[in-house]
Amino acid sequence: MTRINLDVQPDRRQRAIRRVRDRNIIIPTFAQMKNPELIPNIVKEKLRNVGLWDVNPLNLFRITWKNEQVSHGGGFGGVNFIELPSSLTGTPARVIGLIGKWFPTGAHKVGAAFGCLVPRLVTGQFEPSTQKAVWPSTGNFCRGGAYDSALLGCESIAILPEGMSRERFDWLSKIAGEVIATPGSESNVKEIFDKCWELRASGQDLMIFNQFEEFGNYLWHYEVTGHAMEEVLRKVMGPRDEYRGTVSATGSAGTIASGDYLKQVFPSSKIAASEALQCPTLLENGFGAHRIEGIGDKHVPWIHNVKNTDMVVAIDDNAVVSLARLFNEPAGLGYLVRQGVPEDVASRLNLLGFSGISNVLSAIKMAKYYEMGEHDIVLTILTDSMELYGSRLHEMHEEYGEYTELDAAAHYAQYLQGASTDNLIELTYADRRRVHNLKYFTWVEQQGRTYEEILAQWHERDYWKDVQKQVAEIDAAIIELNEAVGL
Ligand SMILES: Cc1ncc(COP(=O)(O)O)c(C=O)c1O
Repeated sequence: MTRINLDVQPDRRQRAIRRVRDRNIIIPTFAQMKNPELIPNIVKEKLRNVGLWDVNPLNLFRITWKNEQVSHGGGFGGVNFIELPSSLTGTPARVIGLIGKWFPTGAHKVGAAFGCLVPRLVTGQFEPSTQKAVWPSTGNFCRGGAYDSALLGCESIAILPEGMSRERFDWLSKIAGEVIATPGSESNVKEIFDKCWELRASGQDLMIFNQFEEFGNYLWHYEVTGHAMEEVLRKVMGPRDEYRGTVSATGSAGTIASGDYLKQVFPSSKIAASEALQCPTLLENGFGAHRIEGIGDKHVPWIHNVKNTDMVVAIDDNAVVSLARLFNEPAGLGYLVRQGVPEDVASRLNLLGFSGISNVLSAIKMAKYYEMGEHDIVLTILTDSMELYGSRLHEMHEEYGEYTELDAAAHYAQYLQGASTDNLIELTYADRRRVHNLKYFTWVEQQGRTYEEILAQWHERDYWKDVQKQVAEIDAAIIELNEAVGL
């Protein structure tokens, strides 16, 4: 059965082709995003004059983990990643994070948005000349969606909670056609869904790209992030090293799909999902508000392959905001260097946004739980960087005053060296079913998914493989559209 609807609507597709041609747009394939060596030289040459965040359709080709780390005119290299030393993490295990900062918009969510939008565009299901693309989000997905929409020449509506960082709103107001702020903060996802229903009922001609249920999001990460992670492993793994697992916060549960790919390549590896301790939905069916921007919760995303998830980890948001100061204030960085953290690592800790810090803490807990040693590797994701949280640092400075060496020592000891295996469970079969069952209340009761499908997700052997296989079909449809456009 097809999970991503690829039925072609010929008339609308013709109009999409005209639109794409008029705007000189070439759409990259998943294969090119995985491997930019496949990008035509003419595109690479033109990119020499294009900034990383510019609203220029050529930047569709920069939806890749392999961008050169420059803000203007960059080419492509290897996957961007950073390995964090044990002087920082307190575990001998090798903790490696893929870096999201070097995507356009400063976060990898442009990829998730591409994965949702492009299959609809190339089949003619979404018509860019008349329809608006709606991007419900806790922040970066709607930034990515609004950005991709602008590159592809369509109107967009961004939806995000009013409590998200000022940087997100400032930038969105310049890119999205409309920005809707829903009540609450990070974990108020239900309010976002309610707004979507309101928009559906409004009679406007729009298409909602709900990242929490769109398999294009799952697929982009399975294929592009999964392969990027594998490349990192092939590069860094010595003969005695072992890849032990991936850990990722589940905002929409797109990123964690990379673990599904890696588990197929390394069958003994594990997948851990993390969330905020102040909103422990996966851990204990809990709820609450938290400050780890981007990772939502109070529901289980439809596209989370829970049966394949081995562990749940909850991270205290106090640890995250405190480490954000440690990693970015001069007194914090000075202290870290004196503890043996190499200067070139300390100077790059601003690559970790709030959820990146949370992911690293989750990786440390996972490593400690499985008693990993120096030859064990844990992968995680640094979705965005501190570039999007400057206002938060400023607010903390106002509230708590100067960051001192004493603060640094306390935070380093408590949250890094002292990280423990509390608030963590290794999921049994029954635990996984308990988490999966939570989907019912959001998706079947509220959001129109069927009873049959929630059972199929759990019981059908090939349910997730059917999504994974669709990448070839989507790439073929992209190539066909590009050929019809004839640029
Ligand atoms: C900053 C940040 N971190 C983590 C995530 C979670 O990633 P995913 O939605 O792929 O689970 C998001 C999602 O929007 C995010 O914006």
